[in-house]
Amino acid sequence: MEYKVKDIKLADSGRLKIEWAESRMPVLMHLMEKYRKEKPLKGQKVAGCLHVTKETAVLIKTLAVSGAEVSWSGCNPLSTQDDVAAAIADEGTPIFAWHGMNVDEFYWAIDATLEFEPTLTLDDGADLINRIHQKRPDLAKKVIAGTEETTTGVHRLRAMAKAGELLYPVIAVNDAETKWDFDNVYGTGQSSIDGILRSTSVLLAGKKFVVAGYGHCGRGTASRARGMGAQVIVTEINPLQALKAMLDGFEVMKMDEAAAVGDIFITATGMKDILVRRHFEMMKDGAIVCNTGHYDCEINLNDLAALKDEVREIRPNNEEYRLKNGRKIFLLAKGRLVNLAGAEGHPSEVMDMSFANQFLALIRCAREGRDLDAAVHDVPVEQDLDLARLKLDTLGIGIDSLTPEQEKYNDDYLAGT
Ligand code: ADE
Repeated sequence: MEYKVKDIKLADSGRLKIEWAESRMPVLMHLMEKYRKEKPLKGQKVAGCLHVTKETAVLIKTLAVSGAEVSWSGCNPLSTQDDVAAAIADEGTPIFAWHGMNVDEFYWAIDATLEFEPTLTLDDGADLINRIHQKRPDLAKKVIAGTEETTTGVHRLRAMAKAGELLYPVIAVNDAETKWDFDNVYGTGQSSIDGILRSTSVLLAGKKFVVAGYGHCGRGTASRARGMGAQVIVTEINPLQALKAMLDGFEVMKMDEAAAVGDIFITATGMKDILVRRHFEMMKDGAIVCNTGHYDCEINLNDLAALKDEVREIRPNNEEYRLKNGRKIFLLAKGRLVNLAGAEGHPSEVMDMSFANQFLALIRCAREGRDLDAAVHDVPVEQDLDLARLKLDTLGIGIDSLTPEQEKYNDDYLAGT
């Protein structure tokens, strides 16, 4: 079995983390048991390109228990938890991932997972699918279907489909309500704050905390920062999102204004060049900047580098840029996902639902993939409802249901006062 990880001797530490995650992922564990005998993924080869975390290890185990052969790479050079990667390799899954890989190594690792010629692909950010389309289109014929975990990836895949370039069907796991309405909001919200605190240990109370983008990730981050006493400012390009942010009680302004007053900046937009030279030039001495979007293009690092006199790492995941104007700006996690590079990613409880969606979507790919068009497909609403019900069950929470009389009332268009 082939693998490349930082140090296989870290496996025991990784196993403990995975055990911890399993104890907090009851829905995925339930599905693992449910499909253990049936093995719906038997004969399938799943290539995965997704952050190597303790939660991902539970997903990989679920896929393997369900009959799949699996090969894995990370989807970000700084998000791999090396002890978890070691444990995954030690348990018998080919994995090619280590923390701090460079860009060439990153693509080498994806290519390594393609060697076994997958029948299903699982992406977080569409790098694996892109690699197949750009470098190994011969493999696309063998792939039945794929899944995509994140907003940025789904966005790219829809653009590919629109251009007529997508070669096989993909299920947009990100767009399931039990994914985005929990993972993107509560997961990103908590883990981004976690990443900022681990990298800086600053007090959030009283700080002017600027959130760029009021999508689900921005909303979650803004709400968690406010919960810790920060004065949150939101910047937006979409008038609807801007209005929502304002009515949710946040100050809304242009980045050109926010840049001069913020203490901490976090980008959550999926768009490049959110913080550029003119913003850095305006920032207060000691400003902290970070990103929680998928790619490291939201903070223009070339612009920041052009303004610097000196850079030094002052703490893990925290670089002090001493600018020519005499001020300092602190860049966290090299502008990469602060929640995964600076902390451990979303908590297990929330990844439980995201990865249950991934698992069920892959079963659907195996069963129905050959009948699906080469397009981006939604997760069925029934899957969302089933997973939400399962999650509530595991939490011991009961909810009401409509009586037959109420069901009738639902459809009664003549009912009035
Ligand atoms: N994306 C965000 N948080 C994650 C986690 N804990 N595991 C895998 N992918 C993630």
